Amino acid sequence: MRKLKVLITGSSGMLGRAICCLLAKDYHVCGIDLENSIRLVNFFKCDITKHSLFRKITLKVRPDIIIHTAAYTDVDECEVNKKKAGDINIKASANIAMVCRDIDCTLIFISTDYVFNGRKKSPYLEKDKPSPLNVYGKTKFDAERFISNNLDRYILVRTTWLYGNGGKNFVDTIVNNAKLMPLLRVVDNQRGSPTYVLDLAAALRILIKKVILYPGKYYGIYNITNSGSCSWYRFAKEIIKVNRLNSRVISSKIEYSKRPAKRPENSVLSNSKFNRLTGRPMRNWKEALCAYLQNKK
Ligand SMILES: NC(=O)c1ccc[n+]([C@@H]2O[C@H](COP(=O)([O-])OP(=O)(O)OC[C@H]3O[C@@H](n4cnc5c(N)ncnc54)[C@H](OP(=O)(O)O)[C@@H]3O)[C@@H](O)[C@H]2O)c1
Repeated sequence: MRKLKVLITGSSGMLGRAICCLLAKDYHVCGIDLENSIRLVNFFKCDITKHSLFRKITLKVRPDIIIHTAAYTDVDECEVNKKKAGDINIKASANIAMVCRDIDCTLIFISTDYVFNGRKKSPYLEKDKPSPLNVYGKTKFDAERFISNNLDRYILVRTTWLYGNGGKNFVDTIVNNAKLMPLLRVVDNQRGSPTYVLDLAAALRILIKKVILYPGKYYGIYNITNSGSCSWYRFAKEIIKVNRLNSRVISSKIEYSKRPAKRPENSVLSNSKFNRLTGRPMRNWKEALCAYLQNKK
């Protein structure tokens, strides 16, 4: 049987590289990014805002599935560079969706908890109404809407608080800062589910297998994060504990951090749909954190 082709945008990014690594076992994997940081064999250098170049590459590759992870992910910069945020996160995503429709390819789009305003007191469900607080969240939600209004064969995956190799992430920041500073101040009034990109990549692999076996049954929106939740403060304390570092972590409030973009207080997403449909629950965030730190050694 022919190996299916999967094209991954943002293949050099934190999540993109984890997906490339994991899916290469089963599929013919191709990557698109601004640079080929992971030296992928089948790599195409392309700025996804160059719509005709993206189309040309895709028509050549003829993927069965596109996993679209590339995005303008600097949440605070998005507030200032609104046009750039719109060009990358909305317009390029819309072009990718149109190309998928033209070549009859399934689109998996990676979205975010930032589509919600965080005022809900319990974990967000896929059916909850988005109401983003910042430009980044708005652009990701606009892309979601375009995709769901224009495609039948799509999966939207909302996730939160990613960390992994090859990206600027909270775990590495805390470890590095704790080696330099005796005291760290970390926000305690924002909750989320820290998620290891390798676990998210494994969950996507499960979904892809389902989509291939039962076309039509698995399309739609999914929340996928490691299970359980905590505040950034609790997350930092756990990172310090597992690494046996000596810094003291002090709790702080989001109001004191004076960052340009507003952030939701509750970023916790319920995995219940993913768990029910796949029968493969995501592991707890503390277990995943230990695995990441172990892999780094
Ligand atoms: N990180 C999180 O906590 C988080 C949470 C929820 C959802 N998400 C979503 O998950 C996805 C992956 O996030 P991530 O943290 O892995 O992001 P990332 O590390 O920033 O990776 C994104 C990749 O896309 C590339 N890219 C940016 N603009 C591009 C363009 N115009 N053309 C081609 N490539 C471009 C980036 O290149 P440069 O680095 O050179 O710009 C980078 O390699 C994103 O869609 C994000 O919205 C992330």
